[in-house]
Amino acid sequence: MKITVKAGKLETMRTDAAVLSIVEGEKPGPVAARVDKALGGMVQKLLKRGDLSAKAGSTGIIYPEGKIAAERLIVVGLGKRADLTLDRFRLAAGKAAAAARSAGAKNIAIAPEGPSFDPAEAGQALAEGSTLGLYRFLKYKSKVENNGKKKILSITVLTEKATAVSAFQKGVRTGEIIAAQAAMARDMVSSPSADMTPTVIAGIAKGLARKYRLKVQVLERDHMRKLGMGALLGVASGSVQPPKCIIVEYRGGGKKPFIALVGKAITFDSGGISIKPSENMDRMKDDMSGGAAVLGAIANAAALRLPLNIVALVPATENMPSGSAFKPGDVLRTMSGQTIEILNTDAEGRLILADALAYACRYKPAVIVDIATLTGACRIALGQEATGMLGTSDTFKQKMREAGETTGERVWELPLWDGYQDLIKSDIADMKNAGGRDGGVITAACLLSKFVEKYPWVHLDIAATAWTEKDRPYTPKGATGIGCRLLTQFLRDYDKK
Ligand code: BES
Ligand code: MN
Ligand code: ZN
Repeated sequence: MKITVKAGKLETMRTDAAVLSIVEGEKPGPVAARVDKALGGMVQKLLKRGDLSAKAGSTGIIYPEGKIAAERLIVVGLGKRADLTLDRFRLAAGKAAAAARSAGAKNIAIAPEGPSFDPAEAGQALAEGSTLGLYRFLKYKSKVENNGKKKILSITVLTEKATAVSAFQKGVRTGEIIAAQAAMARDMVSSPSADMTPTVIAGIAKGLARKYRLKVQVLERDHMRKLGMGALLGVASGSVQPPKCIIVEYRGGGKKPFIALVGKAITFDSGGISIKPSENMDRMKDDMSGGAAVLGAIANAAALRLPLNIVALVPATENMPSGSAFKPGDVLRTMSGQTIEILNTDAEGRLILADALAYACRYKPAVIVDIATLTGACRIALGQEATGMLGTSDTFKQKMREAGETTGERVWELPLWDGYQDLIKSDIADMKNAGGRDGGVITAACLLSKFVEKYPWVHLDIAATAWTEKDRPYTPKGATGIGCRLLTQFLRDYDKK
């Protein structure tokens, strides 16, 4: 899909669907007023009757029959001005694009009216909202459906001010880049585990490295053994798929210290010997969402040429039961030298992260951010509206919070107080990998905290937000690609005071 920006008027644009935006409780803006006039007051009449609504994300369709140049007019609500955030705007763009597609439009013209955003920000939100709102995972649909007729080929963004075109364009370009990586993350997460093995993820990382001139290194089992990554290898021992520890570096920041991004990539989490119930086990193909997010984020950093040095670490393996699998009662020795008693082989994410975090410390990073579908308890604690956040650095937690608000991928902090550390004490090893039912999100983070040394650290638990069972604004049901946009924003604002 191509998105272009032009100076022009909505009512004279020849297009399959013209999109008009309306702010709730306000008089129509100049574009809306002109379009409405051409339509003999139809928009206002339908709004009054309640056939159209200005509520955020609501859409309606009018057939102008020659009164304006467009075949269809989509009216999308932006809600009240006081609540009109960039994310609301993203939502409206997603809804409008989806409505145009269902109506059979192949091209759209949007004249964003109402919001007083900076044109670059508006352009970015528009590109993100429409691209992500139109996203579908069609790889496994038979050909006929795959080539399904309903597809938007182009979006034209119309602005009345010729001077705003280039700023809009720049924003659109940024939004396209960011949305493309988020879509890649969704594709990866939605793919069956048989087709998204650690080897495949390593291949994807290599592909990104080629495209964006990143350095990539993939540690194989032998190498991990030499490094003493006993936790990652322990989890991998039950699988016939060879584990990979993927390391991608982006250097755009001269002599600045590295920012380390660590993403959990369990390509299938059966639970191992502590096997999961079969209901919904298919969902556990999404247990590599953290890895997909950090690969998308580092690709974005490179594509946007951010002035930073970044390393992305993706420990990748399956968690399977077999005769060679690790077992409850085992003690694993990690790369850091610390030992972990296994009480539950289903608490495997923290194990692979323990070794990846220790490896991240080798970079003496300015900050470590890890992201993982780590605990079912996170859904109990926060539901699906927020990603859980814990960590040791108030500065970086605040930056992450702000990135969450900007992107709509919101985070909510949970405490990491000392008292919780007692819950993972082991009788025979340095710690145990499962702390019982109390504070499951927190005890998982407690274990991770033992592997980040003194480095500032933020942990994100996306177990509840990586997948959605219902359609959400610009996020159709399925993989959300969460974290990719969040981390990208965190990086973009990294040096902002
Ligand atoms: N990958 C799961 C967490 C998860 C659960 C993600 C549900 C998405 C939906 C993780 O590896 C896991 O199994 N965690 C256990 C930890 C427990 C054994 C201490 C859990 O949450 O039950
Ligand atoms: Mn598990
Ligand atoms: Zn898992």
